[in-house]
Amino acid sequence: MYLFKQKDTLDRHLSTARKNGKRIGFVPTMGALHQGHLSLIANAKENCDVVVCSIFVNPTQFNDPADFEKYPVTIDNDILQLTDAGTDVLFLPSVQEMYPDGLTVKTHYDFGQLETVLEGAHRPGHFQGVGQIVHKLLDLVKPDKLFMGQKDFQQCLIVNRLLKLIHSPAELVVCPTLREPDGLAMSSRNMRLNPAERQNALNIYKALIYVKDNIHIASFSEILNSAVNQLKMNKFDVDYLSLVSVEEDGTVTFPKEMSSRPLYLVVAAKEVSSGVRLIDNMQM
Ligand code: PAF
Repeated sequence: MYLFKQKDTLDRHLSTARKNGKRIGFVPTMGALHQGHLSLIANAKENCDVVVCSIFVNPTQFNDPADFEKYPVTIDNDILQLTDAGTDVLFLPSVQEMYPDGLTVKTHYDFGQLETVLEGAHRPGHFQGVGQIVHKLLDLVKPDKLFMGQKDFQQCLIVNRLLKLIHSPAELVVCPTLREPDGLAMSSRNMRLNPAERQNALNIYKALIYVKDNIHIASFSEILNSAVNQLKMNKFDVDYLSLVSVEEDGTVTFPKEMSSRPLYLVVAAKEVSSGVRLIDNMQM
């Protein structure tokens, strides 16, 4: 696996690959890699000739400085996992390399309604930060395909919109969420949970299953209220637990009853004793 820390050396390497007709698959990450990330790499390997992974804990997307400080960093283990998975190129830049002019936001992306609901409402500025870094990385890697996980439901919608805004030809491939055997969605943030908190975190998955099992039995609002109450009883601060659909134009709506459109339950809640905020979603 080639490891590049500088943009120009990565650019030179990928320019040659592109000239040789290689199709580039790109998996952007913030490290602390787990099987979920490795499934993105595997998907990229199946569909592309050269697989590029980036590891960069992007400061501009953390609306909470404490979350940034505590974000797990496991770089040696990440490199081993990426090598074993057959990754061709790892891009591991510094903050200075990605933001040579400082962290002040210079470009504003018009993400419209998507930035005002769910994660957008609870993490102000987060998606602008995601937009900035994904834009910079896309300009550099110029992938044919970009692989991201369904667990970051709204991030996938934002990136789809970004691709249109910046006229990128890259195709976004959204890969299924990987879960632990008991159902907990794999996440780098799970590393911050002690065994008791890890056990409690499972209540997020249980809430998704509870809603899925009862969706035809009572009204949406009754089921959602009941699931929120269960989470609160298990010491979660719930930011949102909502049933949403995605419209043709990429915006989300909050249906009150079943329709022909696919329906997703999306949740974000903080496990209070650890202070770790977890997100998850499931198609109903
Ligand atoms: O999902 C992530 O890990 C990050 O938001 C991303 C897409 C790598 C941008 O920093």
